[in-house]
Amino acid sequence: MSRKPIIAGNWKMNKNYGEAVVLAQSISNRMDDFWLNKVDVVVCPPFIDLKPVKTVFEFDRMDVELGAQNVHWEEAGAFTGEISTGMLKNVGCDWCIVGHSERRTLMGETNEDVNRKAKALIAAGMKPIVCVGESLAVRDAEAQDEFVCAQVDAAFAGIPAASAKSCVVAYEPIWAIGTGRTATPEQAEAMCAAIRTTLARIYDQETADQMRILYGGSMNPGNAEGLLAQENIDGGLIGGAALDADSFVDLVKAAL
Ligand code: 13P
Repeated sequence: MSRKPIIAGNWKMNKNYGEAVVLAQSISNRMDDFWLNKVDVVVCPPFIDLKPVKTVFEFDRMDVELGAQNVHWEEAGAFTGEISTGMLKNVGCDWCIVGHSERRTLMGETNEDVNRKAKALIAAGMKPIVCVGESLAVRDAEAQDEFVCAQVDAAFAGIPAASAKSCVVAYEPIWAIGTGRTATPEQAEAMCAAIRTTLARIYDQETADQMRILYGGSMNPGNAEGLLAQENIDGGLIGGAALDADSFVDLVKAAL
C-alpha cells in the first residue's frame, strides 16, 4: 500500500509575525515544487502567523499547505480567545493539529474535546492531525499500546470511514517530545502498526490502509531515515527541527 508521506512542522508558540515570514520564505526558497507531487508539506504556525505565512507560499506558487495548532468546535459565539474552523478556512488553512500532548497536559484537553474538534474540522472540510502518545510512566508500565489505542478509539468515535480517510494520526510519545530522546524506529513502528490495527478494527482494513500515520518526537534529519523507512510510518510531525529552514527542508527531502 503506497501512501503519500507528510512532513508537517509544528511551530508551537514560536515565531512572531516577522520571524514567521522569514522562516516561510526561507523554506520556500529551499523547496522544489516538483517534490510536492511526492510528499505533502504542511506548516502549522501560531494563529496570527497563518495569513502572512500563506501569503509567502502563495506568492511563490509553492503548494506548501497550512495547518493550525488548535481549534474550537463551535462555529461562532461567546468563546473568548477561541478560533473557529470557519476562521481557519478563511485564511486558507486546510489542516489542524488536535489533541497535542502539550494541550492535553497543560490545557486539560480531554479525549472528548479531541473528538469534538476532529468532528468540527471534518464538517468544515478540513483535515485533522490527531495526536496520540503515552507518558514515560505508561511506557514503563508497558501499557502504551492499550493507552494509545484507547486515545485513537476516543478520537474517532462517531466519525464515519469516509471522513476518517482524510484524517491523519500522529504518534508522539511524550517522553520523546523536545527531549532529544527519539523513539527507536522499531518502537515507533510497533506503535504505528498497533494504531493501524486499531483503525482497521474501528473501520475496515482498506480504510486503515489509506490513513496516514506520522511519528513525532525529536525527529531530525539525522534520525529521519530510519523512522521513515518503516512500513507504518507515513511521515513526521516535527517540532524543534521545523523551526530551522535547512533542517525542515532536509526532512522533506528525506521523505521523497
Ligand atoms: P520535537 O520535534 O521538538 O520533539 O516536537 C515534536 C512535537 O511535539 C511535534 O508536534
